[in-house]
Amino acid sequence: MTLRAILAGTGSALPRTRVSNEELARRVDTSDEWIVERTGIRFRHIAEPDETTATLAAAAAKEALAAAGLEPSDIGLIIVATATPDNTFPASATKVQALLGAPDCIAFDVAAVCSGFLYAISVADSMLRTGAAKHALIIGSETFSRILDWEDRTTCVLFGDGAGAVVLSAEEVADDRGILATRLHAEGQYCDMLYVDGGPSTTGTVGHVRMQGREVFRHAVTNLAAVLGEVLADVGLSATDIDWVVPHQANKRIIDATAKKLGLPAERVVLTVDQHANTSAASVPLALDLAVRDGRIRRGDLVVLEAMGGGFTWGAAVLRV
Ligand code: UT7
Repeated sequence: MTLRAILAGTGSALPRTRVSNEELARRVDTSDEWIVERTGIRFRHIAEPDETTATLAAAAAKEALAAAGLEPSDIGLIIVATATPDNTFPASATKVQALLGAPDCIAFDVAAVCSGFLYAISVADSMLRTGAAKHALIIGSETFSRILDWEDRTTCVLFGDGAGAVVLSAEEVADDRGILATRLHAEGQYCDMLYVDGGPSTTGTVGHVRMQGREVFRHAVTNLAAVLGEVLADVGLSATDIDWVVPHQANKRIIDATAKKLGLPAERVVLTVDQHANTSAASVPLALDLAVRDGRIRRGDLVVLEAMGGGFTWGAAVLRV
């Protein structure tokens, strides 16, 4: 028997308001044609003032708890991956804890931008396997619309808001179910290629997203293909063993190019970028929840998650559902 972190449930939440490319084209100098051709994005959800990173996270968490058949009181660890917390502090995870009515537990945020969910599940996996908790809520939640420069067409068309959550449970298993391996990376020398030009300790303001898109694109394909290769090698498997890839949803061209590098057919890649745009740390758990709920991802499937974002940071995980 082996103690592993098992995927016990998934959930997600999207803001009420959905915005099309055509609607954006009325605000900035862009077009549906350009956005679809360069990114694959057609829609994104934008949070209303009453919808925040913490409220979206709590809504996604409630769904994940229900799917796992658990109560908030069963949870011993809450991690929220976000770059857009409700407040500079406290951690959004403690706000989620309060919104769920969960009693005393471990709660903190992880800041690794778009790869935050991968960082969070890797940390949770270690903590669950060393006995810190029995059940953990891992949430990626973002309101990126609040840090976009709505005059900058090179960034504002790319992002959206939302949240995705999973419950991971520590279980003794006789088979290969659960998280089998995770790999994380960071290369801080590229921190100026994708960043927010404000912060509490510098400008005292929240700031806006700035990105050298073409450079990020180039690094993303190389790094994601490499980390997927690493994580599969860790468990002695190859691309042909994968049932589903749930990639970070930044750009359909990045997803296609990465899959091609690995020799993965498009039918095994979960794609939501057309509906959600890039929701940063929320994108992987949002896509995972969608594919679990529509029946594509089933018990026994080998699933690979990957993401890359500001820092640069990137990572991958392989799990048997
Ligand atoms: O989640 C974190 C990771 N982030 C990413 O992975 C994003 C990575 N980067 C990308 O996805 C792509 O680089 C972009 C979608 C951001 C841009 O696509 P691209 O094919 O690399 O375009 P580009 O930046 O080379 O720009 C091409 C042209 C430029 O015009 P000129 O200089 O060729 O005349 C831009 O000004 O497209 C122009 N452009 C636009 N045109 C219409 C840039 N944004 C827009 C726009 N609408 N929204």
